Amino acid sequence: EEVVGGEEEDEEEGDDIRRRTTRRVARRDDSDPDEYYVPRGHRKAQQSGQQVLCELKKGERVRTLDGAEMPFSNLGWRKIVPPLPLSQLYGPGFQTCAVVTSAGAMLHSGLGKEIDSHDAVLRFNTAPTKGYERDVGNKTTIRIINSQILANPKHQFNTSSLYKNVTLVAWDPAPYTLNLHKWYSNPDYNLFTPYMEHRMHFPAQPFYILHPKYIWQLWDVIQGNNLENIQPNPPSSGFIGTLLMMSLCEEVHVYEYIPSKRQTDLCHYHERYYDAACTLGAYHPLLYEKMLIQRMNVGPEDDLRQKGKVTLSGFKNVHC
Ligand code: C5P
Repeated sequence: EEVVGGEEEDEEEGDDIRRRTTRRVARRDDSDPDEYYVPRGHRKAQQSGQQVLCELKKGERVRTLDGAEMPFSNLGWRKIVPPLPLSQLYGPGFQTCAVVTSAGAMLHSGLGKEIDSHDAVLRFNTAPTKGYERDVGNKTTIRIINSQILANPKHQFNTSSLYKNVTLVAWDPAPYTLNLHKWYSNPDYNLFTPYMEHRMHFPAQPFYILHPKYIWQLWDVIQGNNLENIQPNPPSSGFIGTLLMMSLCEEVHVYEYIPSKRQTDLCHYHERYYDAACTLGAYHPLLYEKMLIQRMNVGPEDDLRQKGKVTLSGFKNVHC
């Protein structure tokens, strides 16, 4: 276990979320700290929310595998991936978007109607809507799934209705060095075979794999804006999805990523499993991601407290 934050530290931005969250963050014991060949030690001075937004806007906006690079080009992936990249799938994009985290604090939130009133709704992994409509709504436009969902038969990726009639975006933590050959031959969980099979069976369903460059570029921004060393592992799906929606939408509302007054150790709203690390991070640099998102929040403090709701400008509306 590693202690992050604490009473004796200077009051600075981010302390708010630290205070409202437990201070201990467990690291995954079995993980090799250099599993993804991540470099240590680049730091930038603390930037304002607007500066962070500009830094993120300058980076690559939503990149998915297009099959043009080796080894994918040799494997015929240009014809396997959807004809339109995700960045163009929705034309000019959406006005308002909701990002619904799977946090236990969504339970008893009564936010379902508000969430469904958005033009697009993003959900994660196995998070259901059935039976939880009052709290999380029932509209799903895009679902981000990690490679475990594709690789582990217990998730019933091929048959479950969770993964039908939505745009799917899968990801897997490739090496930081972006060696695609190495990634293809040794992903964290083998998502490539199930992806190809799914594309062949359901060619009309938009289904993408995020380019590892996109994921690590986000990691660089999180690390670059924190004085502490963050976990040398990719950001959580929640962070990735929020940034993705900032590219597709004019305005993004993120629910229960920064915990509301309902903050709980309940990991997911749909499971009876308790672990504070789900909210604070262990494997993912979750605490640091959340401090960064909080810095970019332009919504009222009361929204945060009552609804766990953060308001972010889409990149189109960020003027640098
Ligand atoms: O656990 P899972 O990754 O499926 O959850 C989706 C996302 O919701 C996470 O990546 C994380 O960003 C967010 N989350 C959270 N607090 C929790 C559970 C999930 O912020 N307790």
